Amino acid sequence: MPGTITVASIAALAALSTYIIPPIRHELKVIGVGRPAITSTIANAADYVKIEDTTHCEDLHYYAPANLLFTACEDRHTRFSWFPPLGSFEPPTDGTQGSIHVVDPKTMKSIRLSFIDFDKTFVTHGIDVIADPSAKNTVYIFAVNHQPNPEFVASRREHIQKSNSRIELFRHVIGTSTAKHIRTISHPRIETPNDIHAISPTEFYVTNDHFYREGLMRELEGVAPVKWSNTQLVSITDLYATSPSEGLGVQTALTGIKNNNGLGHVHESEEVTVVSAERGILYRAFPHAENKTLEVRESIHLDSTLDNPTWYHDPWATDSDDKSGYILAGLARGLDLASNIKTPNAKDPVYVWLVQPDPSHTLSKGQQEGNWQKKLVFQDDGGKVRTASAAVVIGIDPGLEGGKKRGWLFVTGFMSENMVATKIDL
Ligand SMILES: *[C@@H]1O[C@H](CO)[C@@H](O)[C@H](O)[C@H]1NC(C)=O
Repeated sequence: MPGTITVASIAALAALSTYIIPPIRHELKVIGVGRPAITSTIANAADYVKIEDTTHCEDLHYYAPANLLFTACEDRHTRFSWFPPLGSFEPPTDGTQGSIHVVDPKTMKSIRLSFIDFDKTFVTHGIDVIADPSAKNTVYIFAVNHQPNPEFVASRREHIQKSNSRIELFRHVIGTSTAKHIRTISHPRIETPNDIHAISPTEFYVTNDHFYREGLMRELEGVAPVKWSNTQLVSITDLYATSPSEGLGVQTALTGIKNNNGLGHVHESEEVTVVSAERGILYRAFPHAENKTLEVRESIHLDSTLDNPTWYHDPWATDSDDKSGYILAGLARGLDLASNIKTPNAKDPVYVWLVQPDPSHTLSKGQQEGNWQKKLVFQDDGGKVRTASAAVVIGIDPGLEGGKKRGWLFVTGFMSENMVATKIDL
């Protein structure tokens, strides 16, 4: 999600825009300056489901082999006081623990997994879910945890690091209601972790969404055209190390992007999709074979802030009709976020985009370079779903929809009371 965009930052941007600098005009559009009021596309109640027990869920992943969705949620309103990515630093006093949820798209029910061997404070953010290659029906779940620094909680001194942000690794057997904690991953180069792209149970990319954790420099970073965020590649050499900082190798995999944020996978591709939240840009990055550092091959600009990207793989695709594409959730009015981040009943309108390869530019089947069709497939005024941060499409058999290509769209929001699902045309 975007960092704190303050009113002062907006004023500064607006002032600059009078000099008509096109990239800045585009940035103003991305954060919603001049955007008319957003009406909801949730028109037909029969095609809309509010999924219960999904409060403040940020990221969302579809695990196709089991036809299940995974998300990480706060389950209560602690984000309005403690959430380091938004600059909220009033730490919870009661050791709050968010949870991993499994949502069954057939029943639209969410269940919370109970943790085995994990009773620590858990402040959720990005996750990734990948198959355990050594066991059937089993997944590894990587989850960012913005745990407060106990020294800060005890002393409340201003000038110490407030958050000990880290990553938790869990193992879950599909169909059970538990997640077993494997280990914690903490490293000086994992500073402001946002999202994770796992390539194996022992190797993953993680974005640091900002360079500065807080203060004046963070504000400047938010507004200035600087590119101080980075993506790290973490290798776990000992899955069962008991110290969070042991048994790890960490190297920088990507720099040069402003506010790199959500990470995504593309079906049967090595692509690491990287999103700049504040600038509304999707970067298609690929790992170098030699060292797994990432190289950006293409960027796609959208007209809103973005967050965690997902890829819809059309199981009914033919050569002439393939609905596959990126599903991108974001804020229609990112400029209001800073004033709403401590307000439980504020509305933050949302957009969801479907970005498909333009068939008229298709060079070959699959994900080719070239032009893209950007369709706004969903919007809400913030009344049903607020602050959208991830969206997933699960296709519906066209045989059940009179031959039409349609899908259920699931949308989470990092400060939304609930996630929602609604049917859309693809
Ligand atoms: C990784 O490999 C690529 C391609 O050979 C090279 O350009 C790049 O400098 C390497 N990066 C590091 C950090 O070794």
